[in-house]
Amino acid sequence: MWRELLPVGRDSGSGGYRRYAWTGADAECRAWFEEQAEARGLVHEVDRNGNQWAWLGDPSQGDAVVTGSHLDSVPDGGAFDGPLGVVSSFAALDELRRRGVQFAKPLGIVNFGDEEGARFGLACVGSRLAGGQLTVEQAHRLTDGDGVTLPRAMEAAGYDPDGIGADPERLARIGAFVELHVEQGRALDLTGDAVGVASAIWPHGRWRFDFRGEANHAGTTRLVDRHDPMLPYAETVLAARREARLAGAVATFGKIAVEPNGVNAIPSLVRGWLDSRAADQEALDRVVGAVESAARDYAAAHGVDLDVVRESFTPVVEFDHALRDELARILGKDTDLTVPVLETGAGHDAGILSTSIPTAMLFVRNPTGVSHSPAEFAAEDDCLAGVHALTDVLEGLAT
Ligand code: GLV
Ligand code: MN
Ligand code: MN
Ligand code: MN
Repeated sequence: MWRELLPVGRDSGSGGYRRYAWTGADAECRAWFEEQAEARGLVHEVDRNGNQWAWLGDPSQGDAVVTGSHLDSVPDGGAFDGPLGVVSSFAALDELRRRGVQFAKPLGIVNFGDEEGARFGLACVGSRLAGGQLTVEQAHRLTDGDGVTLPRAMEAAGYDPDGIGADPERLARIGAFVELHVEQGRALDLTGDAVGVASAIWPHGRWRFDFRGEANHAGTTRLVDRHDPMLPYAETVLAARREARLAGAVATFGKIAVEPNGVNAIPSLVRGWLDSRAADQEALDRVVGAVESAARDYAAAHGVDLDVVRESFTPVVEFDHALRDELARILGKDTDLTVPVLETGAGHDAGILSTSIPTAMLFVRNPTGVSHSPAEFAAEDDCLAGVHALTDVLEGLAT
């Protein structure tokens, strides 16, 4: 079944995926999800925020066990980040049926909308809206690079944006949410395990740095007369690296917009987005504060103005301890081995939902540790180990 997803939104040059929210590629992924649900006799529904659900049993009964992930991607993303969790959910359900498991609780599979935030700049839009961490007013202000707002994009894709907003009743029906995900680092490769359990997600956020200078001729403007915003921007990139290293954190300028973006013009504007993450809040604050302060000094030295805006922020997530221990117990029950428990610097819908419902995550080994790139990888045997782990977990939780 997963093979059908392989060509969707794939760039024939790089081999990476471009499945952005509410685009044609997203629609194809959604159609695939609906087909998978219907082929299994599950009840398919799309909630008010555009998240897709497939139900076995009646969710209004409450205490539902839900699993799933997302199908959208970053620019030039890999095949596993997101889809592995959704595909594994359907495969685990098939395995549960083969085992003849009788469920005491409703079982749901979910595809959260716009997890990566590649189009509107904010990650986990579907789960943030459902959980109320993104207000309707904030959602209405989200705009893509072409000036299209989130509601207009939803409408153009055939969805009604009028009802978006917190969905506490839907979340209250869920007793446990488990997201399986490809690991985005090499911890499991180093411990030699195919599957691990998540303990925590680092606090993380996105900050926009606008350096405004003065456009001018690249050939005729003397160096001393320039107000070139590219220079303080470049120095800020180096400062981010330095501060992150000092704090044991990470900091990345991965996206940049330049105006007027001409080879022979000094830029008038350099807009760079900082993504920074750290094991604790104090370290993250320290890094971002130091980068901002250095950027202000550099900007002043070049006669350039600087505005810094925090575009999004997600506090530290500690996954539900009881559920995490339950997962480790279920996965370790037939062996003497302990299941590795790891923290991660990557954001996930499970992290957003953890403030309203008990959530847990399973990670599947990624031997190169590469993610958000076409080189992202997980071996077929490890993917199958992930499906078996998820099956055991769902059996343990839903019976
Ligand atoms: C999403 O995958 C993120 O962690 O940025
Ligand atoms: Mn991702
Ligand atoms: Mn993901
Ligand atoms: Mn993510």
